[in-house]
Amino acid sequence: MGIFFTFIGVWAFIFYVNWQMALAVSLTFPFMFIIYRVFRGRIHTAFRAARRSQSDMSNQMQNTLTQIELIKSYASENLEEERFEENSNRNKRDLIQVTHNMAIFSPLVDLVNYIGTAIILTLGAYFVIHDQLTVGQLVAYLSYVSLLQNPIRSLTSLLNQLQESLVSYGRIMDINQVKSSIVEDKGAINFPKISKGINLENVSFAYEKEETIHDITFSIPFGKTTALVGRSGSGKTTITKLIDRLYDLDNGSIKFDRLDIKKIKLRSLRENIAIFSQDTYIVDGTIKDNIIYGKQGASEEDIWQAAEMADIADFIHQQTKGMNTLVGERGVKLSGGQKQRISIARALLKDAPIVILDEATASLDNESEKNIQHALKALMKNRTSLVIAHRLSTIYNADQIIVMSQGRIVEKGKHEQLLKQNGSYARLYNAQFK
Ligand SMILES: Nc1ncnc2c1ncn2[C@@H]1O[C@H](COP(=O)(O)OP(=O)(O)O)[C@@H](O)[C@H]1O
Ligand SMILES: [Mg+2]
Repeated sequence: MGIFFTFIGVWAFIFYVNWQMALAVSLTFPFMFIIYRVFRGRIHTAFRAARRSQSDMSNQMQNTLTQIELIKSYASENLEEERFEENSNRNKRDLIQVTHNMAIFSPLVDLVNYIGTAIILTLGAYFVIHDQLTVGQLVAYLSYVSLLQNPIRSLTSLLNQLQESLVSYGRIMDINQVKSSIVEDKGAINFPKISKGINLENVSFAYEKEETIHDITFSIPFGKTTALVGRSGSGKTTITKLIDRLYDLDNGSIKFDRLDIKKIKLRSLRENIAIFSQDTYIVDGTIKDNIIYGKQGASEEDIWQAAEMADIADFIHQQTKGMNTLVGERGVKLSGGQKQRISIARALLKDAPIVILDEATASLDNESEKNIQHALKALMKNRTSLVIAHRLSTIYNADQIIVMSQGRIVEKGKHEQLLKQNGSYARLYNAQFK
């Protein structure tokens, strides 16, 4: 509004000082106005698209960073990289579109401004020569006219914003260059067909300085269910991360049959282990995106079969868009149980021979948990599984129970036998499971 009054005021004033020149310069305004209208629309649209694609890019980046464990355990780095590339290419195209329009817009505005100035100078020279205007008045006149031209010219300062967003884009690219500390052996091979199981021998590990896992030895027999119990903070989840090689051991070894974990290709290792925790990871996208995450390129039939086995197919059928229903940040809110089922479907589709359940149902209420047991059983059937349980029902049926306390194994055995020992397990049982 202020600008509008300035505009009118200045305009009236230059008419008052010299109406011929004012009229002449006014003839350039409609052109200005047309250029402004056309390009304002174009630049806004292009800029909005660029900002949106940039925020898509940084959202995806953020998702990637927060869900790094999901991505690694599903060995889907390539997929994420492709998505990032797709997003960043789109952003690049949008930015080029912005720049392209800016590149035409600002010189065009300048051109019209210079034409206006040229007209004033020509006419002004004529009036000065004929003593109808002094040189001082002419100079003053020019600066008034530039007051009229400036508002439009200031639009070109959008360019600065553009440069700022380019800077933050550069920062995101920097994050992308960070290297993982887990390196693959030169001669690493694909995950072997195992028949005996997983052996942990004298395993020690520290996240930082203080050791979290102290000299742990146990095995997870092939095709059986091993339960890991212990108070919160005793190191159960850490064990699962070591088996998935999200971290490297400080001491000891983990072997699949007789093959050391370090001799296995990371990708292949993680493709063969399905980790399932209470932090259900739902990626932004459709239900299908979330299930197919387990196995890129899976057929429609296999996806539905996995959904069926995970007891989520009915829910998907109820959605008007079915498998293409958007979930996650931009889509429908899923209940804890639905998220779990989708994750189970994902793990089923992945069809890994080794399954790790880390308090998978801890965040669910009793009812939802009961409903999910069936799906979980389907997941564990015929697989080598390590189950970290917080409910007795899961532990009862385990072939072996490992009891952990403060990063050490304190007891091993079956439920009845451990109860009889009346030690840590019995105490834990009385406190937690009874
Ligand atoms: N990423 C991490 N960085 C540092 N310390 C961690 C990290 N994750 C877990 N810890 C610590 O390691 C110990 C074992 O944690 P965790 O394996 O999660 O136990 P549990 O699963 O049995 O509850 C805890 O003291 C925990 O604070
Ligand atoms: Mg845990």
